[in-house]
Amino acid sequence: MTLRQLYIETVGCQMNMLDSEMVVASLKKCGYELTTNPSVADTLLFNTCSVRQHAEDKTYSALGKLKRAKQEQPDKVIGVMGCMAQKDQRLIYERAPYVDLIVGPGQLHQIPELIDKARRGDRRQVAVSLGRRDGTVSHIKRSHETFDPLRDPSMRPTPFQAYLRIQIGCDKFCTYCVVPMTRGPEQGRSPKIIVDEAKTLADQGCKEITLLGQTVNSYRHVDGGKVTRLSDLLLELHEVPGIERLKFVTNYPKDMTQDLLEVVRDMPKVSPYLHVPLQSGSNTVLERMKRGYTVEDYRDMMERIRATVPDAAVSSDFIVGFCGETEEDFEQTIALVKECRFKNSFIFKYSERPGTKAADRIPDAVPYDVKQRRNNELLAVQNQISEEDNHEFLGRTVDVLVEGPSKASIKKGEDGMLLQLTGRTQCDRIVVFEGNRRLIGETIGVGVYDASSHTLFGTVVTQHAGPELFTVQ
Ligand code: SAH
Ligand code: SF4
Ligand code: F3S
Repeated sequence: MTLRQLYIETVGCQMNMLDSEMVVASLKKCGYELTTNPSVADTLLFNTCSVRQHAEDKTYSALGKLKRAKQEQPDKVIGVMGCMAQKDQRLIYERAPYVDLIVGPGQLHQIPELIDKARRGDRRQVAVSLGRRDGTVSHIKRSHETFDPLRDPSMRPTPFQAYLRIQIGCDKFCTYCVVPMTRGPEQGRSPKIIVDEAKTLADQGCKEITLLGQTVNSYRHVDGGKVTRLSDLLLELHEVPGIERLKFVTNYPKDMTQDLLEVVRDMPKVSPYLHVPLQSGSNTVLERMKRGYTVEDYRDMMERIRATVPDAAVSSDFIVGFCGETEEDFEQTIALVKECRFKNSFIFKYSERPGTKAADRIPDAVPYDVKQRRNNELLAVQNQISEEDNHEFLGRTVDVLVEGPSKASIKKGEDGMLLQLTGRTQCDRIVVFEGNRRLIGETIGVGVYDASSHTLFGTVVTQHAGPELFTVQ
């Protein structure tokens, strides 16, 4: 049987990477193989993101490039899946009329069938979830089905690292954000399903699992009166043989509870890495964003983190130039970044999203060049902090899970046994060093001799370091 050729492009967050993995796994079962060449593909899928305008533009420009190809080969099936499919639905046909299917994040399991239908001539398939006002909560929840049992190791970051969804949707409704619309109501998946999936991943050789949720630490699952929180789940997952590291993203500041911090402190497999987006250092802006906490609350949370897990690496996200952000608001953000000393921060320029509360009610009044300048300034402050913190590691030995050839090594096309490798510490710092290809997938000790804001540079100290050998993370 000749296999059908599938091309897939993914933008957006880790949720989307995981969704693409699932879709590829289900299509491989139906006789597809992956290709990286769109011109030989007979099925092309775009897994999309709507969080900022730029992400949508990227998808529309990729789709634009297919117009000719589709005219020349009308039997090519083109599908748009993910958050933009849910948000824009049929509007996508207006900008790209040659698209054959539009599939929201809650309908991904239908993709093989929808592609077949399109191929049989039944074009313009649309499968999406109910909107947040289109029915009862349980109806809406059911329309956002999760689709997780199928796995495809070839689509993972590496064969020994995998994502595992523990929560779908979001109920926080920050005023700037589309995610509660595109991903629907917050729902915690059942602990039993999660643990079984972790066991499957471990059987497939996976050593590191990153638990995913938009507000992962708000995770709750209630079954017959028994409540499972993220801390309980981590304790269960800790027992899964073969799993060496457990990470979880993204955390919501208000839900950083003491039980969770104690599990991070006490359980060696749980990474002391906490991504807890602050978004802004100004109470006025936080209020306008409806983030549900104040600067003082965030500061209290940081103090609890530092008191309970002193070595934890904390990272953040920021939006600069949110509606009405003044120079003074921005200065407060700079000051708080200096105070909190994040390991790293992702900084975004505010992008107005139609359909959100902010777009409806508050003008996007900060000019683009001001957003750009604030972005650069904040990034420079953060980079300096990251570099200073990384310098603390000079002369120390860190545990590194070796992920593969470094970017520089891939670029140079190094193909010998000895090459430049990259990996991460338990607290998510990137480490680059020379080593043998055989080390890929191993956890080893690396002595750090140099550091930049994003990378530690080191030499291999031991080939098989267990977590017990090194205390430095
Ligand atoms: N659920 C996560 C992340 C969601 S999206 C959380 O709440 O932390 C990832 C990041 O994108 C957000 O943290 C925010 O910093 C940024 N973001 C979301 N909407 C945005 C918008 N409209 N414009 C610019 N950045 C945005
Ligand atoms: Fe968006 Fe806020 Fe939910 Fe994060 S917590 S996904 S920023 S609404
Ligand atoms: Fe984007 Fe959807 Fe993720 S909007 S950030 S892909 S949840």
